[in-house]
Amino acid sequence: MTSVCMLRSLLMLILALFSANASNWLYLAKLSSVGSISEEETCEKLKGLIQRQVQICRRSVEVMDSVRRGAQLAIDECQHQFRNRRWNCSTLDSLPVFGKVVSQGTREAAFVYAISAASVAYSVTRACSSGELEQCGCDRNVRGVSPEGFQWSGCSDNIAYGVAFSASFVDVRERSKRSSAGRALMNLHNNEAGRKAILSHMRVDCKCHGVSGSCEVRTCWKAMPSFRRVGGVLKEKFDGATEVEQRKVGSARALVPKNSQFKPHTDEDLVYLDPSPDFCERDPRNGVLGTAGRRCNRTSKAIDGCELMCCGRGFHTEEAEVVERCSCRFHWCCYVRCKQCRRTVEVHTCR
Ligand SMILES: *[C@@H]1O[C@H](CO)[C@@H](O)[C@H](O)[C@H]1NC(C)=O
Ligand SMILES: *[C@@H]1O[C@H](CO)[C@@H](O)[C@H](O)[C@H]1NC(C)=O
Repeated sequence: MTSVCMLRSLLMLILALFSANASNWLYLAKLSSVGSISEEETCEKLKGLIQRQVQICRRSVEVMDSVRRGAQLAIDECQHQFRNRRWNCSTLDSLPVFGKVVSQGTREAAFVYAISAASVAYSVTRACSSGELEQCGCDRNVRGVSPEGFQWSGCSDNIAYGVAFSASFVDVRERSKRSSAGRALMNLHNNEAGRKAILSHMRVDCKCHGVSGSCEVRTCWKAMPSFRRVGGVLKEKFDGATEVEQRKVGSARALVPKNSQFKPHTDEDLVYLDPSPDFCERDPRNGVLGTAGRRCNRTSKAIDGCELMCCGRGFHTEEAEVVERCSCRFHWCCYVRCKQCRRTVEVHTCR
């Protein structure tokens, strides 16, 4: 080994130790594309990947742009689901992408791991169905006549491929790690729960064939739910997440509910080890933005209400003008014409 090579390995090792965060690959979302996929070095240049992920990247470089799109999908969906909460899933321009809160065993981390494992499975499956990838296509195992009497046909989403890719790429760090086993178990569980959120909500889409719209022959295929649906399912799992602790069960270690009164979690539930901070005050060291300046709802008693969102600090009220379409009328035939109306609304923001 040349000394340059050794130095590089050493640097990689140090980097791996300091950025010990299994969700760093989400940094791919910061790129606009994964670049020319024929280039050998592309994989080494991608920030946030651990060595094993670089190897997967080299083996299946054509899939990497789907992984990048998956990372973006996960971040967008997380921000949508948490738009009215104190922690709103904003990202930093540095690693770890969501700040340190997600490096701890919190409920928020549970959600981030689940949604990102799901998003990779989702995005790779999409790419398979659209014929973008050489390694996979539609699921051709779904065929024949169903018990309901329709013909399986068309392009069924190859979710098995997407799920397997997600498991190998997203879980790779945890599968190779022995230390801090509790966190590894937690991440693996939540990654799996994320993928299950797609698997257990697959739909059957159908099309009718026959004379003038009659449904003499119906052909159907399996399709993934919308990703918004997946996000909604996981947000519900977040709200009902189970606090767990690590115990020895026989010779293995397992996560069991901290409160033995609670019913055990299933494969589809989210689990977490550590309590979350309250996210009220700005704490840049931990990547917590605080809620000062956040919009809140004066009449709501929920977490989006000013009382809870502003953590009792109070809020400012300003008047803002909104422009909206109004007095819309249908004209024969066929368009709708609206007026523009201005309306003042009160906007409340946390102190
Ligand atoms: C989240 O809230 C912070 C203020 O606490 C704000 O600066 C940021 O833009 C918000 N992020 C998103 C994605 O809404
Ligand atoms: C504020 O909260 C109330 C009660 O939950 C709700 O009916 C209303 O639509 C909310 N307003 C906005 C602007 O979100």
